[in-house]
Amino acid sequence: MSSLGVALVTGASKGIGRAISLRLAKDGFDIGMNDLPAARAQLDSLRKEIMGKGRKACIAVGDVSRQENVEEMVSTVVKDLGQLNVMVANAGLCRAHQITETDVEEWDQLFSVNGRGVFLCYKYAALQMIKQGHGGRIIGASSVAGRRGEAGIAAYSATKFAVRGLTQAAAQEWGRYGITVNAYCPGIIQTDMLDDFSGGAEKRSKVLSQLEESCAVGYHATPAEVASVVSYLASKEAHFITA
Ligand SMILES: NC(=O)c1ccc[n+]([C@@H]2O[C@H](COP(=O)([O-])OP(=O)(O)OC[C@H]3O[C@@H](n4cnc5c(N)ncnc54)[C@H](O)[C@@H]3O)[C@@H](O)[C@H]2O)c1
Repeated sequence: MSSLGVALVTGASKGIGRAISLRLAKDGFDIGMNDLPAARAQLDSLRKEIMGKGRKACIAVGDVSRQENVEEMVSTVVKDLGQLNVMVANAGLCRAHQITETDVEEWDQLFSVNGRGVFLCYKYAALQMIKQGHGGRIIGASSVAGRRGEAGIAAYSATKFAVRGLTQAAAQEWGRYGITVNAYCPGIIQTDMLDDFSGGAEKRSKVLSQLEESCAVGYHATPAEVASVVSYLASKEAHFITA
């Protein structure tokens, strides 16, 4: 089966990143998978699943908030799979505290992963894509909380606004190279992140059912719904869609 190219997905071991990796593999991309070293076993099992679909896959563990890790992640994927055509800067963290309860360490931790991590992934993906000269697709994880500030998750909200600002600027800078840059902004998606959002696993189902009432369609989505949007943004047809 011929390949559509190579996609690199960060935070790929579970949740939305895992669903995006599987969906892009189904679409015909070979997949580079990143997550923290602690998620190695889940990445190994995802790699087997993707290779079982007849696609190539490689693992590049590393912390996206660290410049040397991101540089190495991109070069590992290019070395193992030959090129980089799609970057999905998905890895992220959520912490739920009122602003008066948020300390500087928590603020900095959220910005280092959700802000600096996305910036580094965009930067090194773009440098590689410009060098290759065939354009590309860069896609980042924002959130509905990056469109309207949410009480109780202010620092997280601020990081997701940052992703939109970065994405819009990057789209302007790299459009001339045939690189589109977009961000997905999901509402509540059923993943482990909801434990952080709800203030613990035991509170998750109660918080979710309360929030369902304010959701226009009356239910929460699964990672597959986000993956289908990313699938479209990564496709050739989406060449005119850029933030
Ligand atoms: N779940 C939701 O409701 C929701 C809604 C809107 C946006 N998002 C965003 O979607 C993205 C994925 O969220 P999810 O719900 O799948 O979360 P998740 O917690 O299930 O998965 C996040 C993944 O990112 C990885 N990760 C965290 N820090 C990392 C780092 N420094 N380097 C590399 N990997 C790291 C984690 O190990 C984990 O595998 C996040 O950016 C999140 O903010 C989620």
